[in-house]
Amino acid sequence: MPYPSSENHRMVITGGTPLYGECAVGTSKNAVLPILAAALLTKEPVTIFDVPNISDVKNMVSMLKAFGSAVRICGSATTITSKTMRTTSPAESITGRFRASFLFIGPLLAREGSATMPLPGGCSIGSRPVDIHLNGFRALGCKCITTAAQVHVWGRPRGARIHLEFPSVGATENILMAAVLAKGITTITGAATEPEVIDLACFLNSMGAKITIGGNGSITISGVEELSGTSYTPIPDRIEAGTLMLAAAVSGGEVRLRRVNPQHLTPVCGKLSEAGAEIFPYEDGLSVKARRLLPMEIVSSPFPGFPTDMQAPITAACCGAKGTSTVCETVFENRFLHVAELAKMGADITVQGNLALIRGTGNLHGADVRATDLRAGAALCIAALIARGETVINDIHHIDRGYDRLENKLSSLGAKIRRI
Ligand code: EPZ
Repeated sequence: MPYPSSENHRMVITGGTPLYGECAVGTSKNAVLPILAAALLTKEPVTIFDVPNISDVKNMVSMLKAFGSAVRICGSATTITSKTMRTTSPAESITGRFRASFLFIGPLLAREGSATMPLPGGCSIGSRPVDIHLNGFRALGCKCITTAAQVHVWGRPRGARIHLEFPSVGATENILMAAVLAKGITTITGAATEPEVIDLACFLNSMGAKITIGGNGSITISGVEELSGTSYTPIPDRIEAGTLMLAAAVSGGEVRLRRVNPQHLTPVCGKLSEAGAEIFPYEDGLSVKARRLLPMEIVSSPFPGFPTDMQAPITAACCGAKGTSTVCETVFENRFLHVAELAKMGADITVQGNLALIRGTGNLHGADVRATDLRAGAALCIAALIARGETVINDIHHIDRGYDRLENKLSSLGAKIRRI
């Protein structure tokens, strides 16, 4: 059964309260999803700790069970044992076009030499093609056929030299997982180097894989005969951390976040410091103290650039800045859907192509708005914290895909927020 999504839930936020206190950041959604898929690479038990309670994870677990894995959940620890495998995804029947299901192709190719998966299809932020994934599988010696709705890939991966024309996170992860059991050595150049990709490589190495991360986006994988079970705790969620940092900064309070790796957030910390926020790193996190933010110039780009997943949240923060900010989105072609919703709250934003011009008026007002996608929903929460009056955010199942009870974290810091 698909995870019972919070389809009809809404969030009600009353703005104007500075946030104070301390909060722990959850485990990274974008690290745990590929790691769950990679658990298929061994017949032995794999235990993942601190798994976040988010709907994308629930859908991934439904998929694992549908492939034939035994999944045991004990608190926040999930143990996956995959003795025998189906190689055809039942994704359509279980979870519809669930995008992250595409990450099962690499492990299934490595283990069974065959995978059939629904094409992930577009979503609100872009068409999301998979050509870089398929070119990588072909370079490994596999064959790919795509129909209108499905892709079928087969063949035993063999070591190869692969160059990605764009550092796609998912494609890098899929190729990594396809190559770990391949005969020979695979070198990927132009690979994505996001912390979540590196965490997947660390997870695979904990299973006995032989992966080395070079500089400038190169990854080398020496194929091994088989992988063993493991226990692993994925990295904290840098995007949830960045979202909470922005919430603290716009609210004018002072917040300490635990379970944050500042190295994963250098561009976000840099931009917030330039805008006047005071950020102090600690051994296991950091604190944010804010005043009225100065305007910012943001350009999203692949790691180590400013993360595209922080683009919508920081666009909302710019609405409260003193002056005109610019935000340029270079990774996805349609990632400004939050602008129309922010405009309902009085935001003054002009979008031309992939550039948004934000005139910080500081006088946002509450409104009835809807989350169009995961990070747009987070952006609306941030805007609602500085808006005068009450904001109702509809369709918050988008937020629940990637944030584990965001309202609990914000209310623990003093925000006037509740789920209805
Ligand atoms: C991952 O998506 C993340 N999702 C996204 O987070 C994140 O925004 C994105 O990486 C970029 O950092 C997960 O990790 C589950 P890409 P992914 O492949 O792998 C184009 C969130 O909010 N592209 O790096 O799908 C693509 O169209 C989500 O947590 C191709 O052209 O991202 C896009 O414009 C949203 N061909 C760009 O590359 C391909 O074969 C980046 O995509 C693959 C991608």
